[in-house]
Amino acid sequence: MNIILLGPPGAGKGTQARRLEEERGMIQLSTGDMLREARTSGTEMGRKVAAIMDAGELVTDDIVIGLIEEKIKAAPNASFIFDGFPRTLAQADALGELLERNGKKLDAVIELRVDDDALVKRIAGRYTCGDCGEVYHDATKPTKVDGVCDECGSSNLIRRADDNEEALKTRLMEYYKKTSPLIGYYYAKGLLHSVDGLAPIDTVASEIASVLDALRPLDGNVKTP
Ligand code: AP5
Repeated sequence: MNIILLGPPGAGKGTQARRLEEERGMIQLSTGDMLREARTSGTEMGRKVAAIMDAGELVTDDIVIGLIEEKIKAAPNASFIFDGFPRTLAQADALGELLERNGKKLDAVIELRVDDDALVKRIAGRYTCGDCGEVYHDATKPTKVDGVCDECGSSNLIRRADDNEEALKTRLMEYYKKTSPLIGYYYAKGLLHSVDGLAPIDTVASEIASVLDALRPLDGNVKTP
């Protein structure tokens, strides 16, 4: 099964993708994480990516499509959660072609619906473990021990360079202009499922689980008598 988690910055895509990895053995493909890794590479491309990300703009389609293609090819039997990809209609078309070329299909697109006020609060309070990637929030999901990651015990807790008011404005604009048209695109393909992303993390996770469990018969995994 391959799914997309679609939603604006701070909607909870990364949080839910990590849970799906743990609970269903799927692989999270976050273009944001891949680009954050690329920006530390010290290359010219890394420097360009860093400047674009810090401003809150979108990196060019060819770069992100190339990153995703590498990952799909490297794990031919895996089930993927696309987190933060696709973000433009060109990326969506490219993903469809990529999956087809690799004998895969897209099973569902889960839209996390949230409002802008909630997003601002979420982004302002977010911090991440720099070692294992676990995502936290000052108010809604703090670490159990102050300054120590619950998952891996690291004290390398970081805040993202693009989690500031100015970059967030641009990220939201980019989302509404370039990414939100994907809602109609996937609705027309019969793949869209909308979930209330304002609900608590566990409730959102259960709603996503219900959508995926209902899809299983279509996946051919349920035996008929
Ligand atoms: P990316 O890293 O993908 O960032 P984003 O889409 O802006 O999404 P976020 O990671 O900010 O939010 P999220 O939805 O994952 O929320 P999270 O789970 O962390 O992209 C960064 C940049 O990379 C882009 O701006 C662009 O430059 C570039 N880029 C990436 N992909 C690209 C592409 N395909 N094409 C071109 N450029 C690309 O949750 C947020 C906070 O809320 C956390 O603190 C969490 O604990 C909390 N929270 C989560 N769910 C809940 C809940 N239900 N209730 C309360 N709190 C919650």
